[in-house]
Formats: sequence, structure tokens, C-alpha cells
Amino acid sequence: MDASSDTAIAALLLDWYDAHARDLPWRAKPGAPAPDPYRVWMSEVMLQQTTVAAVKDYFAAFTARWPTVDALAAAADEDVMAAWAGLGYYARARNLLACAREVARQGGRFPDTEEGLRALPGLGAYTAAAVAAIAFGRRAVVVDANVERVVSRLFAIDAPLPGSRPEIRNWADTITPDRRAGDFAQAMMDLGATVCTSRGPRCLLCPIASACAARATGDPARFPVKTAKKAKAVRQGRAFWIERDGEEVWLVRRPGTGMLGGMRALPDDGWAARADGSGKGPLSGPWESAGKVGHVFTHFALELNLSVYLGEQIDGLGEGEWWPLDRLDEAGLPTLFAKAARLALAEREDA
Ligand code: ADE
Repeated sequence: MDASSDTAIAALLLDWYDAHARDLPWRAKPGAPAPDPYRVWMSEVMLQQTTVAAVKDYFAAFTARWPTVDALAAAADEDVMAAWAGLGYYARARNLLACAREVARQGGRFPDTEEGLRALPGLGAYTAAAVAAIAFGRRAVVVDANVERVVSRLFAIDAPLPGSRPEIRNWADTITPDRRAGDFAQAMMDLGATVCTSRGPRCLLCPIASACAARATGDPARFPVKTAKKAKAVRQGRAFWIERDGEEVWLVRRPGTGMLGGMRALPDDGWAARADGSGKGPLSGPWESAGKVGHVFTHFALELNLSVYLGEQIDGLGEGEWWPLDRLDEAGLPTLFAKAARLALAEREDA
């Protein structure tokens, strides 16, 4: 087949997808009727900024516990936030719930167009395009990080990311077919994840290598061109492990918006709101240092120093709850605080 025309690229990719599509729990087989929009939507929200491997267990747990959008809409906020713990980017979980409740309010069916989906709360341009294509077979231009890389290479786009995004989208539009748009989107994603990877393109396995401008330059790995990243700022913060009678630890609920918003957590010194935390704790102490844990967020890295207070009668802590240490894994702590908790528990064992 002549791969120089736009429709030929889509045809080659779809043939490749028919033979090589990854078998993933939220997918229909290539060419089969579209899967349940609820499952498509859930998977796309989870997969933003997260790998397929990390998402699989969460997807299974969420869809088993809340099999329909109405079930999810009826769930308690804290149950959903705790079930999301460890997956990161917690605004996604808050948006997931807001969206589920709106869909339930509208009768429990997702809108079947990109515009209709885009109008739902917390549902962005990427998710609207992906769900419209994958769940409803609509022609939509679906561009995630994998697709960005494939398109940058296919058309040897010299302008650096992220500024080149509009150009990439235009090129992606030129090769998106009218039919099987969902399979096409997922074929592009699979190609980016397994063949045209960020670690280096494996052009000998690529179904569209003959059409690839980056390959023709002899140095396909040069694409996508990226603007040099600024080194991340490092913030210092402090978290507090307050233990009562060797049996319980004091946990708080973080405010609904902001970093790790709505999640259960150890008390801390406000590092999330300030460049460095105040260092002040909810008690005057005396505190013992248990060391520190590191965590990398989108815009900064955090070094979180952990201070420990072991006591019996403890008053004046304000809002929060005593949580049994032997059920700590059910608290739904986000990864940063789960790491800090492991550190505190390891210190106790050593003491
Ligand atoms: N990444 C985002 N959406 C995806 C999908 N539907 N299949 C595989 N990887 C994805």
C-alpha cells in the first residue's frame, strides 16, 4: 500500500491494531462494538499522567465496587478519595465524582458527542475526545503524550514541545479517519507505548515507518524536540506523627481544594501552600526527628521531615481523628504520607 496519503496511514495503523492491540480491561476487541461509556470514561480519567500498569488494579477495584455511573455518583466522597489513594493527581478523583453526579442527575447516560461530554464538570478536552471516539465511535482528534510523540516523529516537527501542541493537533487531525476513530486513537496510543517509545523508536516493527519523516532524517529519536526543562524547585516541609498509647495515630483531612485535596493525611506545617512550611506543629512537642521522605510533584520536589511525638493523654489537636495503627493501610493515605507512615513505623520497630 502507498503510505504517502493520509488515509493510507490510518489504514496501515488499523491493520496493525487488528493484529497487535493490547488486551486491556476497559477495551473492546478491535472492530467489536464499543465498550460501556462509563468504563471508557473511568479508564481515560485514570490513565491521564499514569501508566497502564499502575491503573489496572485501580480500574478493577473501582468498577467492581461501583459498577455503574449511578453507583459511583451515590458513593461517599471519602470512600472514593480513599480508593484513589496512591494513584496521584487527586483533583482527578474529585472531578470524577463531580462528573459522575452530573451524569447521574441527567439520567445516568453519558452524552454521546465531544461537545456534550466537554460540558460535563471536570471533563477536559482530551477526555471528551477520547470518550467520544472510543465509546461512541465519533470522529475526534485524540492526543495524549504517546500520540504527541508519534505525530512529532511522523511529521518531523521541529518546533519544541510544549509550544508545538497546536501544530501536533493539526497534523493528528489530518490522519484521523472518519470510521473506527476509537480504534485509531488507541492504535496510536499503543504504537507510542510499545513501538514508537520515549526510550527510542523501534522502527523495524513500525507499520508506518515508510511514511515517517523523522525516520527519513536518519535520527528519529531527535523528535519530539523539547524545550529544556527548568530544574525543579525543592521545598522543605514537616509532617507530624502523633501516636497515642502505641495504638493510634492522629490523622487529618486535607482541605477540599489544593494539593492532595480532600485526602486523609498526617498533619503538616503547610508546605503545600507556602514555598517552605512554617515548621510549626499542632503540639508544642517535644518532637523527635524520624528522618525525611522525598516526593516529586508536578511543579516542585518536596523533602518532608518527619517529627514524631509518642504520648498517652493528648489534648488540643483540633479537627481530625485517631486512627488504629493496625488498620493504617485502610486509611487511604496518598503516597507521600504513606511513605512517611512507613518511616515512622520502621523507626518504632528499631527503637
Ligand atoms: N492511555 C490513555 N488512554 C488509553 C487507552 N484507551 N488505551 C491505552 N492507553 C491509554
